[in-house]
Amino acid sequence: MSFVTPRKETRGAAKDKRKHKPTGATPLPDKKKPGSRTVQITDTISVEFTDPEDDEDVVGQVDATKQEEELTPAQLRSQRKGRRDMRRLSDKMEYVKVDPKATPQQPTPSKNAKSIVPNAKPDAATSTSLILPPTQVLEILTKIFAEVEQDDRAMYKVNPDVIREETSQCVKSSLVEKTNAADLKRLLTYGEVLPEAFTSSIIPFLSLEASDVFYDLGCGTGKIVVQVALETTLRDARGIELMLNRVVEGQRALDRLQSTYPEHISTKSISILQGDICHSATQVAMMDATVVFINNVLFPPEVMSAVCDLLKQLKNLKRVVTMKKICERHREGRCRRDGNACVLFNDPPVQAKVAVSWAKHAFAYLYQVR
Ligand SMILES: C[S@@+](CC[C@H](N)C(=O)[O-])C[C@H]1O[C@@H](n2cnc3c(N)ncnc32)[C@H](O)[C@@H]1O
Repeated sequence: MSFVTPRKETRGAAKDKRKHKPTGATPLPDKKKPGSRTVQITDTISVEFTDPEDDEDVVGQVDATKQEEELTPAQLRSQRKGRRDMRRLSDKMEYVKVDPKATPQQPTPSKNAKSIVPNAKPDAATSTSLILPPTQVLEILTKIFAEVEQDDRAMYKVNPDVIREETSQCVKSSLVEKTNAADLKRLLTYGEVLPEAFTSSIIPFLSLEASDVFYDLGCGTGKIVVQVALETTLRDARGIELMLNRVVEGQRALDRLQSTYPEHISTKSISILQGDICHSATQVAMMDATVVFINNVLFPPEVMSAVCDLLKQLKNLKRVVTMKKICERHREGRCRRDGNACVLFNDPPVQAKVAVSWAKHAFAYLYQVR
């Protein structure tokens, strides 16, 4: 039984005849700033990162101020909206009544759950991996998500009625069912890592290959999922999100992508599914994940612990990026004794300063499986 409500996937069949820029080809400047370090990702790609304590912008990071100046009005609106949403976290909130004895619902595909191309798997022999330059990807994202940007009030609303309504079709984990109202509100609050920052600081680290299976756990409307699919050789990009309205918006964007730019996704499988990431990896049906992104900045410890249990089950996992450290007080011996998921990864993680919608910048933590 899958605990993920099936949603659309998209793929086409045309062959790529374009010239591509290799993944992670962000030019690296000659000079290294003090306090930063260079991380060799592949033979040809290296990225320079810095510690969060060193608040100066360094190479490989997005200059948030500069970026703000360069954003389009729609992007600026979205960024400001995200910041407002994150600041409103402490707003008064009613109690969400949840019946703890309620039997979990089977995932019932909603009326929007039709697939464009279900279980799309490109034929390796015929598929040429398509990579678009980041500027073109940004243009595409702006177009296909324009509707969300125009009227995003409902999209990002988080109150007990909205939560109840938008999660009612999903089989929720017992953990989410019993999460208190304030934590639930935090958990489901929206915020985005800006695409430019994902391009410059995170995608190079992910070092995605055609054979990788990328997941954004808590993907919102799925912008990152679409972005990595278009900007790298990756063929399989998936997002899982609990709030149905965000999934539906993501689905609409996928529809627009399919109808407007079919040639760009001819070899790709992109999906945005409704599901609860606090289930096990088999329940979420993500055993094949190799690279995972989690914007966990507002996840309470119990939720992060459930997500770590899920990560531990992923046999092919290579890299994970989080927006809050997986283990805040890592001690190798103790964490190993306690069986913590953090021992799976390099520690300390590589840290990258990234522009986000809820603040001028935040830090991404880039983990490599040992
Ligand atoms: C801060 S937003 C991140 C959106 C996107 N990943 C990004 O970084 O641009 C976190 C998302 O995780 C989703 N989420 C929280 N708990 C979840 C759960 N248990 N299962 C699935 N999604 C969840 C929220 O609804 C929200 O849309």
